[in-house]
Amino acid sequence: MHIHVMGSGAGGGFPQWNCNCNNCKGVREGTVKASRRTQSSIAISSDGVDWILFNASPDIKKQMDDFPALQPAREVRDTAIKAILITDAQIDHVTGLLTLREHNKPWDIYCTEAVHDDLTTGFPVFNILGHFRGINWHEIKTDLESFTIPAAPGLIFTAVPLKSEAPPYSPHRHNTVPGDNVGIRVEDTRTGKNVFYAPGLGVVEDHVLEFMRNADVVLVDGTVWTDDEMSKEGISDKRAQEMGHINQSEDGGTISFLNSMERPRKILIHINNTNPILNEESAERQVLNNAGIELAYDGMDIEL
Ligand code: MLT
Ligand code: MN
Ligand code: ZN
Repeated sequence: MHIHVMGSGAGGGFPQWNCNCNNCKGVREGTVKASRRTQSSIAISSDGVDWILFNASPDIKKQMDDFPALQPAREVRDTAIKAILITDAQIDHVTGLLTLREHNKPWDIYCTEAVHDDLTTGFPVFNILGHFRGINWHEIKTDLESFTIPAAPGLIFTAVPLKSEAPPYSPHRHNTVPGDNVGIRVEDTRTGKNVFYAPGLGVVEDHVLEFMRNADVVLVDGTVWTDDEMSKEGISDKRAQEMGHINQSEDGGTISFLNSMERPRKILIHINNTNPILNEESAERQVLNNAGIELAYDGMDIEL
């Protein structure tokens, strides 16, 4: 299977439009060695022709312009995106659906009932698309039952319920229900290889660890280095945990559990602009390098 990183940043991207944290200011001024990042999304294909989009970020226009495979130009109106899978209803993962409103048929959208609820009430993107060509909703269950997507022959998908947070406009913001957040395992039956994708991860439960341990590639939540990172930068008094994101560096953080795994190639995605690992010359980036943990970057391609 082919995996293409459309965007590797967290909400707001990097640099964020209104942010003057060390990283954002530094990358704008050229004083910090770092790459700009759009908001998180990936695309997966079994044949390199038809693609499944995982989350639709507000930056999707740029992301598609930068990835010509998504515009094969076979007809006057065309796209290589055949279906869209949504892992949660957060703004950075769904707003791009509005950009895709000109599609000439209903979009095939795969998401849980909890996500569907939020996207038809608190943030009614699906209702809005109903005034265009609409959507065909394919419900993703949270019982770990695998499913297939017709446009991705040979790939098997499994949704893994995760503990994170629901979006701010959700009735279950801090009182989550199964399906508010899922990680997705995609296995290629021809190669036997699988990737586990979880851009928003608050608590790493045992069943999630198991999926990661058995993956060939993990693409996981790389939002923050420390839980109090936003307040340290004077940006917000919110802890990452309150927003549903585990930190990387503290006890029980991402580095410690990734270090315990032998099999997977380990890649962080959904990296917030405050995170010191974005600075390629930082001590924190060196810690990741030493641990063999990579940062996803926009345009990164992975073959499995
Ligand atoms: C998150 O990942 O917690 C959200 O995307 C934050 C946001 O709304 O930007
Ligand atoms: Mn986010
Ligand atoms: Zn910033």
